Amino acid sequence: MVTGASGLLGANLVFEWSRQDLDVVAMANIHTVSIPGVKALRCDLLDAKHTQEIVRSMNPGWTIHCAAATNVEWCERNVDECFRINAAASGLLARTARSVGARFVYISTDSVFSGERGGHTESDTATPLNVYARSKLAGEQAVGQELPTSLIVRTQGKSGRVDARPIAATLDIFWLRGCYLCSPTSE
Ligand SMILES: NC(=O)c1ccc[n+]([C@@H]2O[C@H](COP(=O)([O-])OP(=O)(O)OC[C@H]3O[C@@H](n4cnc5c(N)ncnc54)[C@H](OP(=O)(O)O)[C@@H]3O)[C@@H](O)[C@H]2O)c1
Repeated sequence: MVTGASGLLGANLVFEWSRQDLDVVAMANIHTVSIPGVKALRCDLLDAKHTQEIVRSMNPGWTIHCAAATNVEWCERNVDECFRINAAASGLLARTARSVGARFVYISTDSVFSGERGGHTESDTATPLNVYARSKLAGEQAVGQELPTSLIVRTQGKSGRVDARPIAATLDIFWLRGCYLCSPTSE
């Protein structure tokens, strides 16, 4: 199951995995995802009941959580809703994944660091500079509390078009394959 399947990263993951004949469920909110062979569902992750119903009925082996409020300026103006989407809803999704025994990948951001230097490790203290980055860090913490075996991926900026299948088979796909191979078994 891929959340944020109408977004840049999520759409590319769905394209790639459907091409590999994997059984993919694509979740989006406002937009409709239409990819041959892919089961597409619409769900507002702020609707906890609907989210839980969908996860339980789909019973995914993996949840790759790409959905997020990603517009940095919007997040500055809508702090509460930003935190509800990026943090609270992520925690709920992880809890629901745990209840069905699914493995969970939370797509975070390198923005949890200030950007003053690179080469960070997992043990470095996060230094988020804006609301978006703080909410994504809070999402990491919520997910980690709900499902400690989750993979949290602090990826860096991507650009491209959702409809052009531009980044499949590039770095993002490469590291997610790595995650798949390296992930600890879920509880
Ligand atoms: N793009 C980057 O440069 C970058 C860099 C570092 C990390 N990341 C992280 O990578 C992930 C993917 O980013 P992206 O650029 O692919 O995002 P994006 O293109 O902005 O897409 C965001 C996705 O989240 C969904 N979404 C937003 N609010 C939702 C809600 N309330 N309920 C359900 N779905 C909701 C959207 O669905 P609808 O369109 O249907 O509303 C859309 O599919 C995010 O977690 C982001 O924080 C991105």
